[in-house]
Amino acid sequence: DVEQLQRHFDATIERDQRIEPRDWMPEGYRKTLVRQIAQHAHSEIIGMQPEGNWLTRAPSLRRKAILLAKVQDEAGHGLYLYSATETLGADRADLTGKLISSRQKYSSIFNYPTLNFADIGVIGWLVDGAAIVNQVPLCRSSYGPYARAMIRICKEESFHQRQGYELLMTMMRGTDEQQRMVQDATDRWWWPSLMMFGPPDGDSPNTQQSMAWGIKRHTNDELRQKFIDMTVPQADALGVSLPDAGLAWNDERGHYDFSEPDWTEFKRVLAGSGPCNAQRLERRRAAHEDGQWVRDAAAAHAAKQAERQTG
Ligand code: 3HC
Repeated sequence: DVEQLQRHFDATIERDQRIEPRDWMPEGYRKTLVRQIAQHAHSEIIGMQPEGNWLTRAPSLRRKAILLAKVQDEAGHGLYLYSATETLGADRADLTGKLISSRQKYSSIFNYPTLNFADIGVIGWLVDGAAIVNQVPLCRSSYGPYARAMIRICKEESFHQRQGYELLMTMMRGTDEQQRMVQDATDRWWWPSLMMFGPPDGDSPNTQQSMAWGIKRHTNDELRQKFIDMTVPQADALGVSLPDAGLAWNDERGHYDFSEPDWTEFKRVLAGSGPCNAQRLERRRAAHEDGQWVRDAAAAHAAKQAERQTG
């Protein structure tokens, strides 16, 4: 009966073990997983646009090859994560419909423009760096398919972060203009990167339940702090300053103090009024419609195959 199933589910979570697709799970657990994993997948797919914008204008063949590999990785991460939602009974076409009609979200970070190639380096360094801080704990998420997808994705994210930081190191050894480009890109991407971790814990309706279910392993503020503590020394090594006069090491806390991000900007971007929201969704909708013939052809081919089998 349901009580027994609930007790078994609770005991599995209690013992820090994995819930697998065929296990009984509370409807709320399934729903919040579909919500989080689908939006994670949407973020990976939309995230291809800001960087894809520079594929044809990379400064060298080497940079183009690296960027191509990274954008292809993001597509793969998205498909991986959509597959994880399908183990929960979600339908990929339905999720794409929800993304395009703004009934589901994608990460706010991808609503900012990539103005020049230094942005490609800063995205690798800060955006993929933040994604790694957020995704490593998800490798221990209580839902098996999600945790396992994260292990593969985190390995590729490390390459994304490294290539970005190396690109910036190269530019910082370049001309004054190149150094100015790196500082300008850092100034533009720092605060939006902090917002990737979500609203402050006091404003996070999902965190408590997601922590109780072992979906999330740390709160939004804990991961944001971890990212800041890790990134400040990297900025020093790079030779750029971070655009927060409130950043200062606090010996008592053993962390960096920092100023409060502008949560009205965060809310505005989530409500669809960021610099690039309309353009990102328009591109995604157009790509979906332009791809209809491929889906039709695949379905027709599958039907023919099935007919041949049944004879
Ligand atoms: N952008 C868009 N929406 C956000 C957001 C952000 N940066 N931060 C929070 N939200 C949304 C949440 O989705 C939630 O809305 P919903 O209930 O409609 O889903 C609402 O704001 C309240 O936030 P909560 O903190 O209560 O929500 P969560 O517990 O889901 O925490 C999260 C938000 C930390 C993003 C969590 O969902 C998470 O860890 N998701 C997996 C990681 C992820 O999605 N990363 C995307 C980054 S991009 C990326 O990974 C690509 C890489 O290659 C760069």
